[in-house]
Amino acid sequence: MCGAHWYDTIGATYSVTRRTEPRIAARIWAALGDARTVVNVGAGTGSYEPPDRDVAAVEPSAVMRALRPVGAAPCVAATAERLPFADQSFDSAMAISTVHHWQDPIAGLREMRRVARRVVAFTFDPSDAGWRNRFWLTRDYLPEVADLLVGRPSLTEQASAIGARIEPVLIPWDCADGFFEAYWRRPEAYLDDHVRRGISVWASVGREAEQRAVRSLRDDLVSGRWAARNSHLVALEAAELGLRLLVT
Ligand SMILES: C[S@@+](CC[C@H](N)C(=O)[O-])C[C@H]1O[C@@H](n2cnc3c(N)ncnc32)[C@H](O)[C@@H]1O
Repeated sequence: MCGAHWYDTIGATYSVTRRTEPRIAARIWAALGDARTVVNVGAGTGSYEPPDRDVAAVEPSAVMRALRPVGAAPCVAATAERLPFADQSFDSAMAISTVHHWQDPIAGLREMRRVARRVVAFTFDPSDAGWRNRFWLTRDYLPEVADLLVGRPSLTEQASAIGARIEPVLIPWDCADGFFEAYWRRPEAYLDDHVRRGISVWASVGREAEQRAVRSLRDDLVSGRWAARNSHLVALEAAELGLRLLVT
């Protein structure tokens, strides 16, 4: 699951399904506080970059840098683990849906702390089996996700490395950003190739696991088994699937 090389391989269609979810953006922008200058680490195509502040972006994948829209914040080729900035160059540093890709998350978070007075990261706890057991996709179709997370530092370890607090972020049922958990109430979406290509997990588990999971989900949607098992989700507007903000 690590590294920018994934995005040089799978990134080309990222913007088809990945974009700013306004309710999550509001949480991130509030957490940035009164920062005037912000560095966005693992910036990708620039989703969640606040439009009203002075932003610098850092992104190691050439494919992702090329997808940044015209007029997006300037972007340098670098990794979180070695940020090419002097100490305390920015008011805030942000990292969205990227920490789990870093080779060394603790080193990357410490780098963010070094270059900025405040750190905001949107991520999840790789060591917590709770959300994987609650989320039907990992529980019933793609248990291989657990193997991808073995050996990764826990969220508590990540938070204590930079003195951050941890805040839960619920995922709205109609989440606009097509990340892995986004379609928890729209299971048919995972049958769509475009949706899966925007989520690195599917490439990471390998073609065989992907095809088996999709086949099995399709069968259960047709037979009504998915609906019978997950009927409680229909009444939920937002779900707690382990996503978190780290905020210093
Ligand atoms: C899921 S995308 C998220 C992009 C963007 N932050 C967003 O919210 O859409 C993950 C990004 O992390 C980048 N990445 C991977 N390894 C990295 C590293 N060591 N340091 C910084 N970014 C990295 C990838 O190239 C990719 O663009």
